Amino acid sequence: MPSYAFFQKKMMPLSEAKLGVMTNFMHYGTGVFEGIRGNWNGEKSEMFIFCLKEHYERLRKGCQVLNIRLPYSVDDMCRITVDVVEKCGFEEDVYIRPLAYKSSEALGVRLHDLDGDFLVFAFPWGRYLDTDKARCCVSSWRFPGEVPRAKLTGLYVTNAMAKTEAVERGFDEAIMLNPDGYVAEGSGENIFLVTDGQLVTPASYDGILMGITRNVVMKLAEAELGIRTVERHIARVELYNASECFMTGTAAHITPIAEIDNRKVGDGEIGPITKKLQKVYGEVIRGNDPKYAALCTPVYKRAAVAQKHR
Ligand SMILES: Cc1ncc(COP(=O)(O)O)c(C=O)c1O
Repeated sequence: MPSYAFFQKKMMPLSEAKLGVMTNFMHYGTGVFEGIRGNWNGEKSEMFIFCLKEHYERLRKGCQVLNIRLPYSVDDMCRITVDVVEKCGFEEDVYIRPLAYKSSEALGVRLHDLDGDFLVFAFPWGRYLDTDKARCCVSSWRFPGEVPRAKLTGLYVTNAMAKTEAVERGFDEAIMLNPDGYVAEGSGENIFLVTDGQLVTPASYDGILMGITRNVVMKLAEAELGIRTVERHIARVELYNASECFMTGTAAHITPIAEIDNRKVGDGEIGPITKKLQKVYGEVIRGNDPKYAALCTPVYKRAAVAQKHR
């Protein structure tokens, strides 16, 4: 089944969406991307896009940072995305990649006097970290100093360095420290610890990406488990003393961490709080929890259509 893209204002097969080699963003990282999940619910025969609007609100903020002016509103981009996923017609979990970028075929390091454009495509993608519990290492690569808070393509080169270093050393994922030496995040995930029964995660002032999953997980922990999250600096050694640890991200969902720098986290198994959060989160993202239905955008609406024609 082919994937589709919305590219240069048109819907087309993904294989036909190509950029010219002089496109400014390819040379200088002048793009803003998002990662969105479409989660397939087999019982309901429905694809639920999770936190669609939230992702485009963040993309819009990133465009503001890079001075990319798009001819689309957040609502337009949400509608286009639903159209793309519907056109693809997949009946499995998908990953949706929107990108706003400096589209002029013009070289020169700058943000001004360049056009901006927006594209989005979807493709099937199962687990991001292909493991039930990850083995992580603290990276020798420091998280970039400037507070990013948006998914600017150019910033991800350090994350790529960290990830490959981790994999080459035999780990699943890297944990990056910020320039002050505090724990920041994974190469594509935020991080949480359980310490003395409390959830702890780095704060916005640690320079992390303010993850949409991070936000949802904090809300679910409080509403469903009665556990509040403390946002604060986390020292590297706290990683070694946590009773549980997990990463959150749109691609990675909630991935437990079993080991950090060759030390077991707790007993090296998935901890009870992590397990409960995984269960709650898994139901929420597949549109199975009516309390959080507003976070899920149904794509196919087959049930509604069938009902109408009955
Ligand atoms: C560096 C980084 N941190 C955190 C996250 C998690 O963010 P979100 O939950 O919004 O996907 C991501 C994922 O996109 C990321 O790339």
